[in-house]
Parts: sequence; structure tokens; C-alpha cells
Amino acid sequence: MHELIILGGGPAGYLAAERAGAAGLATALIEKNKIGGVCLNEGCIPSKTLLNSAKIYEHAKHGQVYGVHAEKVTLDQPAVIQRKNKVVKKLVAGITATLKAGKVNIINGTGTILERADGVVRVAVGDQVVEGRRLLIATGSEALVPPIPGVKEGLLDGTVLTNREILDLQEIPQNLVVIGGGVIGLEMAGYFQTCGSQVTVIEMLDHIAGNADREISTALQQAFTIQGIRFHLNSQVTRVADGKVYFKNSNGEQAVAADRVLLSVGRRPVTRDIVLENIGVDVVRGRIVTDRQGLTNVPDVYAAGDVNGAWMLAHAAYREAEVVINTILGKKDIMRYQAMPSVIYTNPEMAFVGETEETCHEKQLNYRKVVLPMTFSGRYMAENDGGNGLIKLLVDNDRERILGCHLLGGYASEIILAAGFMVETEMKISDIKEFIFPHPTVGEIIREAIFHT
Ligand code: NAI
Repeated sequence: MHELIILGGGPAGYLAAERAGAAGLATALIEKNKIGGVCLNEGCIPSKTLLNSAKIYEHAKHGQVYGVHAEKVTLDQPAVIQRKNKVVKKLVAGITATLKAGKVNIINGTGTILERADGVVRVAVGDQVVEGRRLLIATGSEALVPPIPGVKEGLLDGTVLTNREILDLQEIPQNLVVIGGGVIGLEMAGYFQTCGSQVTVIEMLDHIAGNADREISTALQQAFTIQGIRFHLNSQVTRVADGKVYFKNSNGEQAVAADRVLLSVGRRPVTRDIVLENIGVDVVRGRIVTDRQGLTNVPDVYAAGDVNGAWMLAHAAYREAEVVINTILGKKDIMRYQAMPSVIYTNPEMAFVGETEETCHEKQLNYRKVVLPMTFSGRYMAENDGGNGLIKLLVDNDRERILGCHLLGGYASEIILAAGFMVETEMKISDIKEFIFPHPTVGEIIREAIFHT
């Protein structure tokens, strides 16, 4: 008998298993595919590995500005993919070793929930029945496939790709069309444009990058446009056929050539195979409903990660998993989302935390803002010739605290952590002014912005 059964070995599932194992709970982790889930195998880590190669390629090609000349610079896509596979393999091996050290019972296969009776949950994996006192559902999410004519056929013949297939692409397409200008679409658009594709992004809304602050996402779109990426906003894809993507907008129907198409229109929780009905777990619009401890409507049954549809981010999953394990261990813990950082690993990087100017308006918050070019940072100037990075800080006038911080520029993904602490701990502006920031760093831009508020 296990103390805990975990369904799904992605960031929520493996971290929960690691924490549970370390605390001495007899834990079973059921994974149908690879430990590490989408994040490690076909998401966060592979994409960052590719993007790093693109960054090096870009630096090598345009080093003259910095006095560095390189000739005959090429990008070897199969070598990039090979290195990516090596990185993923190492990380997966590391996690597996940690799980084994915690005596986690790793079971390979698809788990199907059978019943919960007399305080025991039973899950079938093939012929085996796994028993446990508690269940954590961490089955993640999968790419949404909209009913656009030609998309299903394209997925079958390999011309239409999701995040899974594009991260294994062995060649750089001449023309890549990206359907959906969200996080995945933008990261991959940046990669392939840098590597030589002509990339076109077709987005249904009037802006890219989803809920990001509009001023910053517009600046990212401008930077991408300068790099050569073409955007069609307010555009509806009507079909994919004959090596083209057809779409319509206020100018009527148009078509753009595509030897490959990336489908990145969002993701949906995976609950299909696990038969939640057998124990009556509440699901609303495909998402498992939980409270802020991750508990579902069924006693001793928890959910964490993308499957709850709250924030489809690996770092949200990590923290949700920890809250679940702490709760099981009887430690007081609760999930807070107000300081959830978001990062888009484009070049320039975009990162943000807290309120956007749009949500400040919606919530009728009394705020002031400061927008500064990153060139206020000496380190940024030293490293980014002609860079057009930005910081935007939103400050609560009533409470003198940071409401939101939005960054565009190199290292944004790392710097945002500092802003996240400030938002989470509700530090006063006057206290932040007393912080010593290392000099010269791009992170000093936060200090600059604070003194401009
Ligand atoms: P997304 O929700 O970020 O973006 C989807 C975009 O597609 C939206 O802008 C939407 O308006 C647009 N769209 C929807 N239907 C469309 C249609 N028929 N035609 C044109 N545009 C359409 O979803 P995405 O990029 O697929 O990413 C999925 C999830 O993965 C996100 O929740 C994201 O948080 C996560 N992710 C996070 C990363 C990170 O943190 N750096 C990296 C990659 C993914």
C-alpha cells in the first residue's frame, strides 16, 4: 500500500514524488511516456537549448559590431538537435536518480483510476492494480488542435507540427508559418527566423504574447519585425492546403507559402484516459477544479500542474506540487499566484510579474508608471549595441508598492526573479531604494526605474 499515488511524471508529478520520497512517504509515480513530461522532453528545456544555439549563431554572424569577425558561420541543425537530446537525457537521468534515492516506485504505463473505497484509491496500469491512500493527478496538458481544414492531415504527413515535433526538426524550413502568436509561437518564430527561415505569424487577436503588458508586447513585435518576421494580426486561419496557409482578415482572404506550419494556439489539460468519473472528480471546461491546497472535491485526491488549467507553467506546477505535499504532511501551506513570473525566451527576452497596465485599468487601481529604456544600464549598453530593451514599472500610489514589473531585453528572464520577490513580499518602494544592486548589471535597471517613480 502506497501513501501516495501520482499520475504523471512532469514537473508537478516528479517534484511531488521527490518531495514525498524525501519525507519518507511510500510513493508510486505512474508515467506513460518519459519522466520529465512535456517541460523536460518537448517543451521548456529543449526549446531553451535550441534558442541558445540561435543566440550563439546570431552573435557569431553579427560580431563585427563588437570587433569580432567570423567567417563562414553556419548553423548545423542536426547537431543542435543532437545536443538538445543530450541535455534532455542528462536531466531526465538526474531526476530519475533522485526519485530512486527517495525510493519512489516508478511505474511505466498509462494509469486508469478504478475506484476509491474505504479510504483506498485504486489505479490500474495494464494488469497491475496500484493501491494508495492518496492520489495526485498531474497529467499535464497537450497541444490544442483546432478544427481548421487541413490541420489534421498536415499533422499526419508532418507538414503541420506542434511543440513536440518542431523541437526535433532536422532542417530549417524555407517558409515557416506559425499559427498563434503566444509563448510557443513567438519562441519558435524567433528561433527559425534567426536560423534562416522566413517566418510569418498569424494571430487571431490584435496583439501578440497573450496577457502580457501591451506596451511591452508591442515593443517585442517591433523588434521581431526588424528581424524580418511578418505578422498578420486580427487574422483567422481558414485552411491549410497545397503548401499554403490561408487566412482572412479585414483585407479579405490571403495565402502565405509554408513548407512547415507550427500550430501553437494554446494547450488543454489531459484528463481523457484516466477515467475521473470513477471517483467523481469535478472537471469544469476540461480543467480539474481544486482549492488552493490542490485538493479536489474528492477527499484525498489532489491535482497540480497544467491539468488544473490555472497557469500552464512549469514553475507554477512545481509550487503547486509542493503545496500538495506539504498539505499531505500536515504542514500549513497555500498557493499564491499574485507574483507568478512569466518569461518568453525570445531575443530580446521578455519577462513580467504582477499587474499589467491593462489589468490596473480593469481593477481601477490608483497607479503610476515609469518606462525606461534598458540603455540606462551600463552593462546593457556594453553588451547590446543598438538594443531597444525596456523596463516598465507600475507602482501602487496608495500603498507605495510595486504592482507589476515588465522587462524586454537580455537577462530579463533572470532579473524578473528580483521583481517577483518585491511583488510577493509587498516591499515598500522606500525599502527597495535601500537595496544594494551589484554594478554593473542589467538588473540595476530595476533600481533606476524605482528612483524614477
Ligand atoms: P498561448 O495561449 O500562449 O498562445 C496561443 C495564441 O494563439 C494566442 O495568442 C491566441 O490568441 C492564438 N490563437 C488561438 N487560436 C488561434 C487561431 N485559430 N488562429 C490564430 N491564432 C490563434 O499558447 P501556446 O503558445 O500554444 O503555449 C501553450 C502553453 O505553454 C501556454 O500556456 C504557455 O504558458 C506554456 N508555455 C510557456 C513557455 C514559457 O513559459 N516560456 C514556453 C512555451 C509554452
